[in-house]
Order: sequence, then C-alpha cells, then structure tokens
Amino acid sequence: MNYTSINLYKEAIRETMQRCRSGTLALFDGIDDTTLCKQAHPEFSPVGWHLGHIAFTEAYWILERCAGLPPMFPHYHKLFAADGLPKSERQNLPPLMEIYEYLDAVRTRVFTYLEAAPLDKQKRLWRFLIQHESQHGETIAFVLQLQRWHFLERHQEMWLRGHAEQHKTDFQPLGEMLEIPGGEFEMGNDSIEALDNERPVHRIYLHTYWIDRYPVTCGQYRTFVEAGGYQNNRWWSEDGWTWLQENPVAQPLYWSDAPTWDNHPVCGVSWYEAEAYARFVGKRLPTEAEWEKAASWNAVTGQRQTYPWGDTEPQLNRCNHDNAIGQTTPVNAYLAGQSAYGCYDMLGNVWEWTSSWFNRYKGFVAYPYRGYSQTYFDEQHRVLKGGSWATRPWAMRSSFRNWYYPGIRQVLAGFRCSSDTNLS
Ligand code: AVJ
Ligand code: FE
Repeated sequence: MNYTSINLYKEAIRETMQRCRSGTLALFDGIDDTTLCKQAHPEFSPVGWHLGHIAFTEAYWILERCAGLPPMFPHYHKLFAADGLPKSERQNLPPLMEIYEYLDAVRTRVFTYLEAAPLDKQKRLWRFLIQHESQHGETIAFVLQLQRWHFLERHQEMWLRGHAEQHKTDFQPLGEMLEIPGGEFEMGNDSIEALDNERPVHRIYLHTYWIDRYPVTCGQYRTFVEAGGYQNNRWWSEDGWTWLQENPVAQPLYWSDAPTWDNHPVCGVSWYEAEAYARFVGKRLPTEAEWEKAASWNAVTGQRQTYPWGDTEPQLNRCNHDNAIGQTTPVNAYLAGQSAYGCYDMLGNVWEWTSSWFNRYKGFVAYPYRGYSQTYFDEQHRVLKGGSWATRPWAMRSSFRNWYYPGIRQVLAGFRCSSDTNLS
C-alpha cells in the first residue's frame, strides 16, 4: 500500500472504531449500578464487566503487544482479563465513570499509536478488535434484555400496537420450504475480516435438501406448545429430555401469547427445544453447511456472496440488526434481505441454531490466540448462524460462526428447519 491509501485505510479504521464505540456506550444510557454489576445468569458476566474487558483487550493487543508499551492500568488486569476471575466474581466493579475513563484513556493512546502503526502487518488484528467489541456489545445487549424483560414485555406490546401499520404483514403460509439442488458450494471466508474459525474457504458437496424460507415463527411454535410439546418426551432427544427435566420450562424465554407476535420468529430457545420442535413437524435442524449454502451461495453465478443479498454491507433495510429496533420483527419484513435462493431473515432478527458442533475447518490456524476459537472445538458447543437484532454490522455475514452450549436460551436464538423432502 502506498502512503495515501494507508492513510485512508487508517481513517476508515478510526471511524469504524468510533462508530462501534458509540453503539457500545449507547447501551449504557441511563443504567443504574445494580443493573451494571449484577450477574443475571451464571454463564454471563455483568454488563459492566464486558465494558472493562473491551478496554482491557484493546490495550493488551494494541498498546502492549503491538506498541510494546508497559501495561497502562495494571490493577485492572486481573479483573478484566478473560482468564482473570471466574464469572461469578466479576461483580465488584469500579464505578461506571471510572470504566468510561479507562476506555477513553486506552482509546486515546490507541489512536495515537495508529498514526504511525505498520498497518500492512496489522490489518487483521484491528479488524479482529472491532469484532471483539461488537460481540461483547451484543452480549451486553442480551444480558440487559434478560434483566429488563418484564419491563420490556409491557413496553413492547405498546410498541407493537403503535407500529401496527408499519409491521402489518400478510399472513402468508410461512411454512414454505425452498429446494436447494444438490451440488458443490464454497463454505467459509478468507477475507481480511474473517475470524480464525471461518478459514479457509473450502468446497463442499451437498445432496438436494429443502430448507424453511423463514425462521420458525411464534405462531408455528405455538402448535408445539399447545400439543403438549413440553410434556411429552416423544419429540425430545435423550439429552434434550434430561435438559428439560433439569430446566423445567414450558415455552421460549421470550414469549407472548399476543397474536401480534405470530409472525415474529421464536426467540429464546435452547438447541434442545429447537431440535424437539423440528422433530414435531417431521423435519430436522439444518447442518451448518446447509444453512450457509442457503444463505450465501449464488448458483447462477457459481459464487459465494458475503451477505445473503450480495456483497454490499448491511443496512437497515436489509435486515433487523444493530439494536436499531430493539426487538424481533416479522420474519417476512425484509424483502431486500433475501438470499439468492430466496430465504428470508438469514441475517439479523434471531440467531439460528444448526445441528453442527462447532468444529475446525481443515487447515485451521488459531488467531489471535488459542482461546478465541480452538478451546471450544470440544463437541460441547453448537453453531449458531446469522446474527440477531442486537448484532453489530461488523460481526454479521453468512460465514460468521457463533457457538454456545446447547442448553443456553439467553442468546436471542431461534431456528429454521430443513428436510430431505419438501414438507411445505
Ligand atoms: C463467539 C460470542 C461465543 O462472547 O464468548 C469474545 C466471543 N471471544 N471475547 C464470547 C468472544 C472472546 C464469544 N462468542
Ligand atoms: Fe472477549
């Protein structure tokens, strides 16, 4: 790269980091200390911790590892490093103002360093850090959602009524499936922003299969609830039924009986619930490869597309993301977001469980550290694809892979089904 293009690139990085940061900070508007420091669920740290961890990670990689500076706030190391304290011991946090000052002090130094940084060698790291903050921002958003749900429930009903016109969608038969003809496609991503677990691009052959055009809606899922789906083990796997006995629930985490929700995707189900529903309707969860082919492959051009609609970056008319709406939208609301095969809502709205374990692609190389992905290639985590209404644009593309334990239902996840035959 020449001098001018390097400087333009740096300017773009700086601007993206600022946009990412203002979205992160907006999540904390009007927050109280209890909400900031409380651990809402044993699997997730308090939202205030995530904020400090974002600063810590940026300082560690840029200021310590790249710039070679000594630790700037050594007393925060133990608290905000990912391998410092157990999640249950992260509730003793500095006041919010001090965390803001930490973020700010780090960011100022980071931008000073950026001016002279050898970006040729560091592009991937800077891209990683933007996505690191993006992902923690999403965790902050869903942990807040968890804490505020009872308030939001009332608020959302009002919101929905207020937006009834805008979101009035015809009740089409939303159970439609699309045929994905057998053939090869390219899975994964080699571009500069791709994380270690997305690499390398590799060709995969899939036989013909059928996949739901839309994510499973609350209206559809209600048939399962009303048929006694949660009371009858015939649709559940053995592990799923064990999970249900240990976690006695009878509906998704985010659930309303109001018919205004019928066209919204199911949100807040564990992998086990998704699997049971799929069996109930005689279908199955898609493999990750099936999901990704339906989202990203353009059979006409014989090329993979970064996003379902092509290669232009996510915008608010394409899918529900970036906390722009703050909740789910009807699954058929984003005509302009369709994939080449015609699937809706592949990105945004809700994450979608797949049947696949989170595993390495052949040729995987850990980056920037082993604990980012490699630690989780343990056949304990299932892959989720597509992003939710709280996903930041920089962490949203068809090749992006998220992973959680199958019993987790707090991560704004739903699913769609697939099948070897047309079960529309
Ligand atoms: C990929 C979202 C499961 O939040 O645990 C953030 C991302 N890794 N910092 C997580 C991550 C290190 C990760 N998830
Ligand atoms: Fe992290």
